[in-house]
Amino acid sequence: MISSKSDFGTRLLLTALIASWSFTLAAESAPQQKSNGTAVVPASHRRARPASDPWWKHAVIYEIYPRSFQDSNGDGVGDLNGITSRLDYLQTLGVDAIWITPCYPSPQIDFGYDISNYEAIDPQYGTMADFDRLLAEARKRNIRIVMDFVVNHTSDKHPWFVASESSKTNPRRDWYVWRDGKVPGAPPAGQPPNNWESYFGHSAWQYDPRTSQYYYHKFYIQQPDLNWENPKVKAAMYGVARFWLNKGVAGFRLDAVNTLYEDPGLTDEGVVNGPDGKPLINAYGDVKLDDSRTSFQPKVHDVLKDLRRITDSYAGQRVLIGETYISSIEGLRVMYGKHNDELELPMDMQIGTINKMDVGTFRRRIDEAETQLDGAQPLLVFDNHDNPRWDRYGQGVLGNGVYNKDIGRVIAAVLFATRGTAMMYYGDEIGMKTTPPLRQEDVKDPIGKIGWPNEKGRDGERTPMQWNATANAGFTKSTSPWLPVPPSYRLTNVQAEVDDHASMLNWYRQLIELRRTNTALHSGDNVMVNTTDNNVLSWIRVAPDKSAVLVVCNFTDQPQKVAFDLTAQGYKKQPASTLMKTPGSSDPASLDAVDLPAFGVYIGQLQR
Ligand code: GLC
Repeated sequence: MISSKSDFGTRLLLTALIASWSFTLAAESAPQQKSNGTAVVPASHRRARPASDPWWKHAVIYEIYPRSFQDSNGDGVGDLNGITSRLDYLQTLGVDAIWITPCYPSPQIDFGYDISNYEAIDPQYGTMADFDRLLAEARKRNIRIVMDFVVNHTSDKHPWFVASESSKTNPRRDWYVWRDGKVPGAPPAGQPPNNWESYFGHSAWQYDPRTSQYYYHKFYIQQPDLNWENPKVKAAMYGVARFWLNKGVAGFRLDAVNTLYEDPGLTDEGVVNGPDGKPLINAYGDVKLDDSRTSFQPKVHDVLKDLRRITDSYAGQRVLIGETYISSIEGLRVMYGKHNDELELPMDMQIGTINKMDVGTFRRRIDEAETQLDGAQPLLVFDNHDNPRWDRYGQGVLGNGVYNKDIGRVIAAVLFATRGTAMMYYGDEIGMKTTPPLRQEDVKDPIGKIGWPNEKGRDGERTPMQWNATANAGFTKSTSPWLPVPPSYRLTNVQAEVDDHASMLNWYRQLIELRRTNTALHSGDNVMVNTTDNNVLSWIRVAPDKSAVLVVCNFTDQPQKVAFDLTAQGYKKQPASTLMKTPGSSDPASLDAVDLPAFGVYIGQLQR
């Protein structure tokens, strides 16, 4: 995962370090606890979600990259009907909502993040009727749909931009950010307005010979930034939000929301120097800039408040999630709004971007999210379509991937057993690995072409979902899926894992089920314990009724024995029961000796 939004180039460092299932099968294979040593949650610990909490507060939100989830028409590209056909699977997994990355009409330069019509469905993903059916079928299963709302930019093929670029006097000219060059004329003789750079490499300014001006693009050249200073742009985009809310979607994931505004004074950004005092160079060969004039400008908050007023005006607890790569808890806090009137769930990437099994940093960041957000709800994210999957942790720790699955169980425990709302990425639940392309000519994501070999792009984390062991993992009937299915599908697939009680899939299901049904894990406070231990991360979840659960995660490749004294908190030395544990962990008779294998996890109900 990238360490900051301004540095897609660091992905490469991490990358370097580091299979059809039918409805019947899904229905028949509802989570069964116990058989792998995991105790069933006692009835006394089960309770319904409190009516006062909004649904998203305890939700598991599942990100779907539609191109890669399920192809229903055999063209090698996933589609909406494919998603609909897998809703039973998602329901059995226990997800409350799906976030679908952009499925609107698009030239697909950035695979949907370059939108040419905000109020329609791209034909390769289906029709609006397909979308409506997906929404209705999801609702029947209590699954909500969160749309990706790309607010910062459109496609250069969007009619707004086509009009805007046509002449300086076109009424849409001011819908985008057009400026004169610092030195007039086409580059290289002419010079762009300032030193700002695109996240995707090189200058953020593109010269247009028709009008001899430059337009600004924080991402690809084909993704011109909208001019949010223009009230007409705001009105049009708020209309888009209403269009989807009227259809009944549960809310939005706001894409690249921090970059909506730029410094109107066009001041150059500062150059970031390395420890040797020399400018840092990113994967594209550009000097690294500090992002100070093109990100987090104060007016972003006005837009967030407007959007929040809009979502709040609809019944059904619609939610605003933000793509917020922020490097401090104070910065994250600000995104909720001073009066909790902006984002409900800014993504907390601070935990997800630790990228190594470092107990101290995990502890500090989880605790910060618990204690320094003024009671607001954290949204934890480890994986998404922009960053290597969680197998990056295994590569980072030992360099050999031997413990990848065990580490995956630890990461899942952190994601689901801490207090935050949990966001997961398709395929994580079966242990899909990041599989980057081996040759530049195979790369689909343009940043991988621009940045090769330092930046191999994001194809590795976007490979097709592995449903079963048939050809192309049951993802498509086509012989040419849009991205190749990694060879790992033969063993790592839903069908193989569903009946294997020790599988990653069942680990995920059990964690999600436990989080839903156990009072303390559902809504208890999160209190770190044994805080000087550098090998084992432990915390308790304490419900208002004082029922409590202990979670213990071994972050090392060595067995660990840990002792807990929670008598001061009012809990006995003997745990009431084991709720979950990884294979090889024992049921401790006493908290004086909790034994964990390498990367083992123990979750137990405490006794008062
Ligand atoms: C967000 C998306 C990413 C996209 C970029 C530009 O970061 O997650 O996939 O390339 O915005 O829209």
